[in-house]
Amino acid sequence: MAIEKTIIALDFPSLEKVQSFLDIFKDSDTKPIFVKVGMELFYAEGPKIIEYLKEQNLKIFLDLKVHDIPNTALGAISSLAKYGVDILNVHASGGIAMMQKAKEALDGYTCKLIAVTHLTSTDEEMLNGELLIATTIENAVLNLAENTKKAGLDGIVCSPHEIKIVKEKLGKDFVTVCPGIRLEKTNDDQKRTLSAKEAFALGTDYIVIGRPITQAKDPIKALQLL
Ligand code: C5P
Repeated sequence: MAIEKTIIALDFPSLEKVQSFLDIFKDSDTKPIFVKVGMELFYAEGPKIIEYLKEQNLKIFLDLKVHDIPNTALGAISSLAKYGVDILNVHASGGIAMMQKAKEALDGYTCKLIAVTHLTSTDEEMLNGELLIATTIENAVLNLAENTKKAGLDGIVCSPHEIKIVKEKLGKDFVTVCPGIRLEKTNDDQKRTLSAKEAFALGTDYIVIGRPITQAKDPIKALQLL
């Protein structure tokens, strides 16, 4: 199990709920090392949630998926950089110029900047029928991944199904962060899933996993099972 490469998505509505979840691991040898704070938690609690998690010595991926005109994206990432987190992200569909500006905002910081390609809730039917992008998911992801690399970012968020092709085409140093990880087959909103072991075997740098751990009857056991 690669716990230091497992980013636990803290998709909770409040600091109290995060505290109760993290308390479960208090006396356990298996503990989260890297966590992800998304919009639900950050919009509810603001910077104090980041301070709290840093006090717990946790590494943080602040997943706010910035997507705006280049100048506004630069301002947004400049403000977020000050929190001292480990990973920030933007939407690759915001374009190369936007990604370059966002990256500029991290000059002097060790924080990595990655881009979201296509959400793991997007399947080919939606890509072709709703977004009118007439290609395969793989091509669409690869195109956004190439743009991300051109803009000088560190890597992408992608489904575990795209790890192999992304590493082949963009190099093994181009970081992949993969949500859509399931311990077993489910019928929830994630459409392109794999297990943690499969994702690591394909060479991903990080996995992101939320509900299979946070909603598990026994989160310690679920984490050990990864
Ligand atoms: O609960 P679950 O394991 O589905 O959580 C996955 C996490 O990864 C969620 O916080 C979701 O917002 C995030 N995410 C995703 N797909 C992306 C980018 C982020 O599922 N492409």
